[in-house]
Amino acid sequence: MKANTAPIGFFDSGIGGTSIWSAVTHLLPQESTVYVADSANAPYGEKSPEEIVALSVKNTEFLLDYGAKLIVVACNTATTNAIASLRARYPVPFVGIEPAIKPAALQTKSGKVGLLATKGTLGSALFHKTALENTSGVELIEQEGAGLVPLIEAGFEQGDEVRQLLQTYLNPMLEKGIDTLVLGCTHYPYLKPILKEILPPHLLVLDAAAAVAKQTQTLLTQHELLAGGLGESKHVFFTNKQTALLARFVPAPLQEQVYFTSDF
Ligand code: DGL
Repeated sequence: MKANTAPIGFFDSGIGGTSIWSAVTHLLPQESTVYVADSANAPYGEKSPEEIVALSVKNTEFLLDYGAKLIVVACNTATTNAIASLRARYPVPFVGIEPAIKPAALQTKSGKVGLLATKGTLGSALFHKTALENTSGVELIEQEGAGLVPLIEAGFEQGDEVRQLLQTYLNPMLEKGIDTLVLGCTHYPYLKPILKEILPPHLLVLDAAAAVAKQTQTLLTQHELLAGGLGESKHVFFTNKQTALLARFVPAPLQEQVYFTSDF
């Protein structure tokens, strides 16, 4: 099999997709990557489906110009609103992320699952289809995480305002008896330190990062795009807002690879 050392492309409305980047590069350490943080346009969750498609297209074009061999749409909102358009338009393989409601439905014992996601994800046709197919016999309690992404993008993921919002959003679910919480936005794994403090210890918290990494590996294998063991992997991160913010969510040795650009 031929080795393909072109990078895997990632995009998100901001820093959230770095939670997916970490899972993918952990599973596939030999792969190079290029990451797009469209922080100037965050949050996507409050935008119309047409706007989300247009933003996803311009991010994809930047990544393709950079030579990406496969694109990970590291954003639930962009996946659920735009991945079908992207697949129809471009020849590279796309991996998307959707809220992990299927594993949640399989693992819940109380039969009650909470889901925190953006308005854009919860309102999308793809999410409705996935929910319908995978949650029979389970009560899915959906909650928009309004305000969370802007606070995380402002660097306040550990602050009191986030804590208060989370309490407001999660207390009603807890009162209804959920034993499983799905984090349906790639920014939300960065709320885990606060979630740990405010959720009962038995509560299972799920996200889809590991599943995305596995699917990336599967598609790279199927399309014969794996980098193999040749050479050293390279990583580069682009943001159209503050490099200092994105750098905080990137492993220390790679922080010098974070660049500002207005090209997307
Ligand atoms: N990380 C994006 C997601 O997974 C955040 C969406 C937003 O910008 O509102 O949904």
